[in-house]
Amino acid sequence: MGSRPPTHGGNLSQEAARMGLKPGQLLDASASLVPFRPPSLLLRALERGIRGGALRDYPDRSQNELRGVIAAWHGIDADAVLPGNGAAELFTWAARDAAACGLSGLLEPGFADYRRALACWGGEVQGLPMDLSWSSQGAEPWPVLMDQYAQAQVLWITNPHNPTGQLWSRASLEPLLGRHRLVICDEAFLPLVPEGERQTLIPLVAEYPNLVVIRSLTKLFAVAGLRLGYAIAAPERLQQWSQWRDPWPVNGLALAAGTAVMADQQGLARWQQRVQHWVLNEGAWLQHQLRQLSGLNPRPSSANYLLAQGQASLLALREQVAQRGVLLRDCRSFEGLGERWLRIGLQDRRGNRRILQALRGALRHQPLA
Ligand SMILES: Cc1ncc(COP(=O)(O)O)c(C=O)c1O
Repeated sequence: MGSRPPTHGGNLSQEAARMGLKPGQLLDASASLVPFRPPSLLLRALERGIRGGALRDYPDRSQNELRGVIAAWHGIDADAVLPGNGAAELFTWAARDAAACGLSGLLEPGFADYRRALACWGGEVQGLPMDLSWSSQGAEPWPVLMDQYAQAQVLWITNPHNPTGQLWSRASLEPLLGRHRLVICDEAFLPLVPEGERQTLIPLVAEYPNLVVIRSLTKLFAVAGLRLGYAIAAPERLQQWSQWRDPWPVNGLALAAGTAVMADQQGLARWQQRVQHWVLNEGAWLQHQLRQLSGLNPRPSSANYLLAQGQASLLALREQVAQRGVLLRDCRSFEGLGERWLRIGLQDRRGNRRILQALRGALRHQPLA
C-alpha cells in the first residue's frame, strides 16, 4: 500500500503475488475490458495463425490486408489507417509530432500514458483541470474553456474520458480543430459506449490534416495481451510514423486476428451491439447498487467503468476488497483525484455481484462513514 501508486490498472500478477493468490482467482475490475470471451472468429484466426506461418514468418510490414479491412469498416481510405502495437505504441508517435508542435494541453485527471509518450520527446505539458462535479450521462460539451489553454498548440482528447467516463459531443470538439495545430483524439473506449459512434471524429480526418484519431481493439474484444490498435490520420503523417518505428511493430498473430474480426462487418456490428447493450444495462444496475452502499458516491458514466467517490480515503477499503479477491483501480496516479476515488470496471452480472459482495464485506469490516 505504501509504494508508488500504479499508473495503469490490470497489474494482475503483481497483485496476485501480493495477496498470495493465483491470478485466475482475482476478479480484475481495475482494467476495463469487456467481460466476454473474445469472438470465436478471432480465436480461430489465432489458431490458424499458429498452425500456419504467423509464428515462423516475419509479419507483413505493409499491413495491407488489415489496413484495408479497418478502412472498409470506417468507410475511409486505407492509406489513412496505421495499425500499431496497441494504442499505446501509436501515442508514442503522436507525441513525437505533438512535441514538435509545442505545448500539449491534457485534461486532469486523465490517462497517464500521454505524459509517458510526451516525455519520450521532451514534450511540454499544460494540465487542464476538470470540474469533478458532473452529474449527467450522455454526450456533453467539452469541459474546458478555450481561454484556459490558449497557449496549447496541441490538444489531447480522450473520448469517452478516462477516468471519468464522460462522453464529449462531436459538436463541441469540432471547433477545437480550427484552434490547435494538432488534435489527438483517443477513442479507445468509444465503440463500447451506447450511441458513442455518433460522436466519433473519424469522419473529420479527411478534412483536417491536424487531426489524429486513435482506436484500440484491447477493450472491445478483451485482448489486452494481443496488442493491437490503429491510428486514423492524414496519410503523409502516417508514412512519417512508419519510417520512425520498428520494422515489425504488429506481430503476425495480431495481424491475423485483427484482420479476421475487422473484415466480418456483420459480426462486428453484432458484437458492438452486444457490448453496448451490456454497458447500458449493467452500468445502470451497478450504479444503482453502489448508491445503496453508505459512504460511496458512484458518478455517472457513459463508459464501461465508473468513478466512485468516498467521503474519506478509500485506500483501506480498496485493500480490504483486494483481500477478498477483487481489484479496483487505485486513483492516486490520476492528477486531481487521489485517495478518495476508486475506478470500477464493469463486469457481467456475476462479476458485478462479486464486486458488491466484496465491497459490502469490506465496509462491514471497515465502515467509511
Ligand atoms: C484511454 C485509453 N486509451 C488507450 C489505452 C491503451 O490501449 P492499448 O491496450 O490498445 O494500448 C488505454 C489503456 O488503459 C486507455 O485507458
